Amino acid sequence: MTELIVTTREGDVRTIDAADGASVMEAIREAGIDELLALCGGALSCATCHVHVDPAHADALPPMSANEDDLLDSSGHRDATSRLSCQIRATADLPRLAVTIAQED
Ligand code: FES
Repeated sequence: MTELIVTTREGDVRTIDAADGASVMEAIREAGIDELLALCGGALSCATCHVHVDPAHADALPPMSANEDDLLDSSGHRDATSRLSCQIRATADLPRLAVTIAQED
């Protein structure tokens, strides 16, 4: 399980639990935070699940794929902390992760 600390676009902070195997996107959506649109449902084709990862946790994440990298380039809000939340999975090796939902493109 991964404890997710999620900051919304309005600055609200929510702490939610993501079950092992669930994507960060799924956990955020299941918690009722629907500003993370995730329009493609995790198929890596929309970039509307864009989040900024706390740099303190970034090294614990698997590297992004070339497809994720390409898709993030379509966002005007990309920076060095950007990831697509559908591509990050909760695991026992990732006890904690803080993310901020990216501004909408
Ligand atoms: S939900 Fe569409 S790319 Fe992540």
